[in-house]
Amino acid sequence: MPEAVKVEVLEKPKMMDYKRHLLVCVGPRCTKDEEAQDLFDSLGDKFAEAGIAKGDLRVKRSRTTCFATCKSGPIMCVQPDGIWYYNVTEKNLDRIIKEHFVAGVPVEELIYHRGPNCVSKN
Ligand code: FES
Repeated sequence: MPEAVKVEVLEKPKMMDYKRHLLVCVGPRCTKDEEAQDLFDSLGDKFAEAGIAKGDLRVKRSRTTCFATCKSGPIMCVQPDGIWYYNVTEKNLDRIIKEHFVAGVPVEELIYHRGPNCVSKN
């Protein structure tokens, strides 16, 4: 007689809706001295101040450890826009938040790569 197969019922994860997903590389090769981690840690306050921590323009944020483009960081990727930014200093991050995330216009001079469905000009 076959043994009964035990089926584990997993709880489905939940996620809030978002307009954009920002991925920040906090790996050791594109920045030094935790610069990217410090920038990531500042996002909560900056997003709240810009009004993009919730609502229609909500930006979800996640850390990653490498995009295999390890230079001139901090490096960030914005999906589903298909835009990769480099040299994201605090000042440049403030620009990206204001111009891209709030106004919807990517900051062209900070883009180093565009994905196949990129919303920005080439
Ligand atoms: S460590 Fe940041 S892109 Fe590789």
